[in-house]
Amino acid sequence: MRSGAVRGGGTGKLCPVNSISPKERFLGALSRRPQDRPPGWMMRQAGRYLPEYQALRSGRSFMECVRNPEIAAEITMQPIRRFGMDAAVIFSDILVPPAAMGIGVEFHEGRGPLLDPVVRDEAALERLADFDAERDTGFLAQALRRVRAELGEERALIGFCGAPFTTVSYMIEGGSSRSFERTKELLHGRPDFFDALMARVTAQLGPYLAMQVAAGADALQIFDSWGGALDRETYAARVAPSLRRLVVEAKATGVPVVLYVNGGGHLLDVLLACGPDALSIDWRVDAAEARRATLGRAALQGNLDPCILFAPEDVVRRETRRVLERFADHPGYVFNLGSGILPKTPPQNVAAAFETLHAWPG
Ligand code: CP3
Repeated sequence: MRSGAVRGGGTGKLCPVNSISPKERFLGALSRRPQDRPPGWMMRQAGRYLPEYQALRSGRSFMECVRNPEIAAEITMQPIRRFGMDAAVIFSDILVPPAAMGIGVEFHEGRGPLLDPVVRDEAALERLADFDAERDTGFLAQALRRVRAELGEERALIGFCGAPFTTVSYMIEGGSSRSFERTKELLHGRPDFFDALMARVTAQLGPYLAMQVAAGADALQIFDSWGGALDRETYAARVAPSLRRLVVEAKATGVPVVLYVNGGGHLLDVLLACGPDALSIDWRVDAAEARRATLGRAALQGNLDPCILFAPEDVVRRETRRVLERFADHPGYVFNLGSGILPKTPPQNVAAAFETLHAWPG
């Protein structure tokens, strides 16, 4: 489909894009300028809930899809064609950098990611490779260029990486974790090792983000998905310095930077001090508190509970309007979920949410 026209959220009909483009709306909101309506996208908007994703993914591993620019670009476009989001987020994963540093990364159905070998001592740290973004993750740059070419300048394109803490926690734990025992054990018990690993990973992520901007990303999102597992003081002292450094490097590319933390309601001021253009918040964060904390400092994104998308369609519409009412007059708000779309989400409910957004305030 050519830019300039978009399928009306799941209805299949074509309608013209207003005078302001979705990309301008998205970037304008991140600059905290008032918009005709909030722009919107959803974390994990490309994924298992879409039959067309399942079809492309079948017979291939997840990492095979990530490393194939043609497939990754096609998967990135799937939700845009169906729902007309204002921004596309490149199909990739936050575990691409650890893989480029020489760690095996595999995904097994129902078990989440598995990383091998784990990095729990200096010897393992020394074995890590420093990677060259263009040479070792060039598939991501190629995928971004393909999507950019398909989107034109009509819609925004988002690049991303995991924050240093979340990336390091995967490298230490070897996978997803509930309590982050080993990560916290090393953070508190072997501070020199932990800080050295954080520094090593942070140094890789800056050039990795810069490569994504050079390949066409209009904005960057940094996912500190597990940062909320830490108390404020520890986060401020041991995690925020690396994150701030990465945010500064990311902003030096000239594009806006969104910072997402799941369960980070107790960290708002610490996160703002890292200097992102926007904070992406989960559903547990109180809207009034988030607005107060960010006013004049950063835009906001998110806040809708992804489980709302399992409710009947009229509830999805009502809850979408409720979240828009809470934030629409805030200078700078991007509609999104508080975490990724879950695999069993009915696609027609995603359509209902975007139809509601596109009709706003109608
Ligand atoms: O948002 C998007 O559509 C862009 C692509 C994207 C993926 N992962 C694709 C993906 C993004 C931005 C991510 C980020 C990511 N990856 C995060 C941070 C966001 C968050 O949810 O907090 C994290 C923690 C990861 C690590 C990761 N990758 C996990 C825990 C899993 C889930 C494993 C599972 O079985 O559910 C993945 C796999 C993954 N990443 C999938 C997708 C579409 C599903 C893979 C499949 O097809 O089986």
